[in-house]
Amino acid sequence: MIPPINRRRFLRLGLGAFASLGTVLGSRSILQKHKLSALDNPSRDFAITEWSPLRELAANKDIIFGASARFDQVMSDKQFAVLLAQECRLLVPEWELKWSAGDHHLRPSPGEFDFAAADAMLSFAQTHHLLFRGHALIWHESLPKWFQKVVNHQNAAKVMKHHIETVMGHYRGRMHSWDVVNEAIEYDPLASQRADGLRQTPWFEFLGPDYIDFAFRIAAKADPDALLVYNDFGLDYNTAMDKAKRRAVLGLLKRLKAKGTPVHALGIQAHLRGDSLDFDPQSLRQFLKEVAALDLKILITEMDVNDSKLPADIQKRDRIVAGVYEDYLSVVLDEPAVIAVITWGLSDRYTYLSEFFPRADHQPVRPLPLDTNLQPKLAWNALARAFQKAQKR
Ligand code: G3I
Repeated sequence: MIPPINRRRFLRLGLGAFASLGTVLGSRSILQKHKLSALDNPSRDFAITEWSPLRELAANKDIIFGASARFDQVMSDKQFAVLLAQECRLLVPEWELKWSAGDHHLRPSPGEFDFAAADAMLSFAQTHHLLFRGHALIWHESLPKWFQKVVNHQNAAKVMKHHIETVMGHYRGRMHSWDVVNEAIEYDPLASQRADGLRQTPWFEFLGPDYIDFAFRIAAKADPDALLVYNDFGLDYNTAMDKAKRRAVLGLLKRLKAKGTPVHALGIQAHLRGDSLDFDPQSLRQFLKEVAALDLKILITEMDVNDSKLPADIQKRDRIVAGVYEDYLSVVLDEPAVIAVITWGLSDRYTYLSEFFPRADHQPVRPLPLDTNLQPKLAWNALARAFQKAQKR
């Protein structure tokens, strides 16, 4: 029996042959059929031996399992809040610690901070013995409308310092970790005008490439107890773009470490795709090893599996999604530097993918460990199996 991961590679090669055949024959259905058989292995049953909450299965190996959630989900959906507290050891606000997201404005104006929503979520976390992580202090997205009008070359350093010191100071000593800088490398470094692949964000324009070092140094003083994380996406597959991203992120981390920047960990968002045939365990393993060799911890910070391009059949879709979770985590958790696995949402009831990557057939998406009725799916089993198989840290 061809093991799932090699099976994908074996069939991908075959698929390449069909690509020309499919084109010649003009029959996409041949391609689709063979792509699906490359993705789906009906013999995988994801059986588990122990039905303990994911937070316990992970904690048995000194791994933290957690999820993101939003204020209204935690405060108004009691059924969901119970599952969040039962399954997770860590909570990260999806919106409430950004400068401005949805109807939550941490920064309503240049002189104001509104901590109410994040404070309520921290209180929930403390009540249920969950760790709390902050996302994201310095990013080019989710900036309030006033930012563009107010911030400039002259005051950007002061604005950044004030934001980091005030927000981290407010939660000092109560945070597991902070995404200090988020997504500083171009979406596609191959298309970047810069050799280092740095995005030319407002922070970059106003403060130059050293804005990242500057942010981390302020953060280290603002809360010496928090793990300080550089967070990014597009690091998962063996595509030209992801390989370029890995090189650029590794280059950035090496430069930061060389200048003594107080960065403690890399956050790998792991927004995975159910329809990808480009997962290569060896190259991912090598990347994780090189990051760990910089004396950095690694957190999987926003894991989900986009199923928008998968067949409508729910059994097939759930099996493919679970296979992606298990194949990815079986590689990632082999790296001892990986200390946390955090999903971006816990239940299909609340996932940003419903809005950002809806299915063409308008079927509800199914990217997360629990379904919309908060019942465990095969993806839950995949996480449980990965934690059970992992070595203790
Ligand atoms: O629905 C409100 C609308 O009523 C309001 O008028 C408008 C004003 O801005 O906001 C609308 O909400 C937006 C929401 O998407 C719609 O679903 C939020 O502003 C917007 O922040 C939100 O997008 C979030 C996105 O980050 C940008 O902050 C997503 O929920 C969130 O899941 C996503 O998460 C990001 C991570 O932070 C970083 N990594 C990638 C990840 C996925 O994109």
